[in-house]
Amino acid sequence: ETSVPYCTGKALDVLRHGDGPTAFATAIGFVCLASASSSLFAGCRGSLFTFIMARLTLRTRDRLFSGLVHQDLAFFQQTTAADLASRLATDVPLASRVVPFSANIALRNLGKVLGLSAFMLALSPRLTLLALLEVPLTIVARKIYNARYQMLQQAVLDATAGTGMVVQEAISSIETVRAFAGEEEEERRYGQALTKMLGLRDQRDMEKAIFLLIRRALQLAVQALVLYCGHQQLREGTLTAGGLVAFILYQNNAGSSVQALAYAYGDLLSNVAAAHKIFDYLDREPAVGTGGTSEPATLQGHVTFQHVSFAYPTRPEHLVLQDVSFELRPGEVTALAGLNGSGKSTCAGLLQRFYEPTAGEVLLDGVPLRDYKHRYLHRQVALVGQEPVLFSGSIRDNIAYGLEDCREEEIIAAAEAAGALDFISALDQGFDTDVGERGDQLSAGQKQRVAIARALVRCPTVLILDEATSALDGDGDVALQQWVQSGGDRTVLLITHHPRMLEKADRIVVLEHGTVAEMGTPAELAACGGPYSRLLQR
Ligand SMILES: Nc1ncnc2c1ncn2[C@@H]1O[C@H](COP(=O)(O)OP(=O)(O)OP(=O)(O)O)[C@@H](O)[C@H]1O
Ligand SMILES: [Mg+2]
Repeated sequence: ETSVPYCTGKALDVLRHGDGPTAFATAIGFVCLASASSSLFAGCRGSLFTFIMARLTLRTRDRLFSGLVHQDLAFFQQTTAADLASRLATDVPLASRVVPFSANIALRNLGKVLGLSAFMLALSPRLTLLALLEVPLTIVARKIYNARYQMLQQAVLDATAGTGMVVQEAISSIETVRAFAGEEEEERRYGQALTKMLGLRDQRDMEKAIFLLIRRALQLAVQALVLYCGHQQLREGTLTAGGLVAFILYQNNAGSSVQALAYAYGDLLSNVAAAHKIFDYLDREPAVGTGGTSEPATLQGHVTFQHVSFAYPTRPEHLVLQDVSFELRPGEVTALAGLNGSGKSTCAGLLQRFYEPTAGEVLLDGVPLRDYKHRYLHRQVALVGQEPVLFSGSIRDNIAYGLEDCREEEIIAAAEAAGALDFISALDQGFDTDVGERGDQLSAGQKQRVAIARALVRCPTVLILDEATSALDGDGDVALQQWVQSGGDRTVLLITHHPRMLEKADRIVVLEHGTVAEMGTPAELAACGGPYSRLLQR
């Protein structure tokens, strides 16, 4: 590409001197040959980079997502879902551009600048020095502009994530929005987020336009200077007219290459912000590791909370559990009772290893939970949560969630044990019925029954029921006895506010403000008139 202007200049000189058609044809032939091979090479290089870029983006997204799903729960409480979605959708392509795109531009233009400078020096060293004046001027202007640009770009990215957050929050909670007639409020919130983003974008683009103007003025000034000196050299006879034309062509070319180099550098800077965040996420080690290896063939299901204290990572100064010790025995239903916020669900979360205790230890058959293999532990310890969440997909997929080797009979048996078979059979598509986003096309009780089936299908050694029977019709306590006995000596942790369910438990642990207030059989506790009796009276 760098030899094209040189050949053009030669052709001009041939014309001026009237050297005949053969010499002219040769010169033009060289121009064509150089142009054609340069285009071919540029095309190949461009497609190769596009190819690599698309793959790099995909791979980074994949790695980032698998890094994210393995993070500990505390991470997700500090980072919003919309923020993470925006990182995946917007920042990954930006960051993956850095390597191939900037490398492409930088390599191409570096080669060009070197080649062009050699030709220019050969034509006229004096004019070359003058033309090179543009380089430091451009670099200084770029440096000043880049600092501003990077700041604005980060603000634009954050504002874009902000608009996504409003949409996600409003749409995913549309029922609450409707129930409180909050549509206008949400519209206003979205409008505000959009206006903020637009304002920042306008400012960014305005500053860019001003920068381009200044840059162009600098370029023109240097060009005028070169023309003036070139004219003098023509008069002195140290340069031919063709040479001057070739030089000016080179100067234009070199100018745009220098600009492109500076641009690639700026692009690199602006995308580094995005890449930085992504690498932060990629490199983040989950606080709750999944490195355990133990998977014994038989498990009794004897759970011990040993002097457990715990504070949520979002509020490290507030101890939610303080020195809590109790046991869950195989074949028994142990109920956790206590007022709202006393720490019952937190105990269930610790037993599921959502978090590590701040002090003390949770043991399963005398072994700390962290020593068990991740998949093994979550097959042995199953939870039906306070607000069960299903995934969009069929009822079958929801029950067999996380199990690769689940047979149809097992699914049906689990659905039957959970009392879900009747309503599932009544559906047109039975187990293939789509439950809708987060299971929203089922009633609360149906959702709860599917969630119970999802826990039972694993034949867990330890079953945690956190208010899991609150929406069920019929006799929850009868079903409960069935579930305890169905898996041999199953350990059951029952969290409930229902006096009738509490009375059916083998033992009760009463929590008050994160400490164990009393423990014993329902009859013992009712007799001694302590916290448990007060709880029943409320
Ligand atoms: N993710 C969290 N981050 C910080 N604090 C939390 C978090 N979840 C719960 N808490 C706090 O921990 C305390 C215990 O909550 P927990 O959910 O264990 O109560 P609970 O006994 O299950 O209550 P309920 O009967 O209402 O279900 C509460 O004071 C609550 O504010
Ligand atoms: Mg709770």
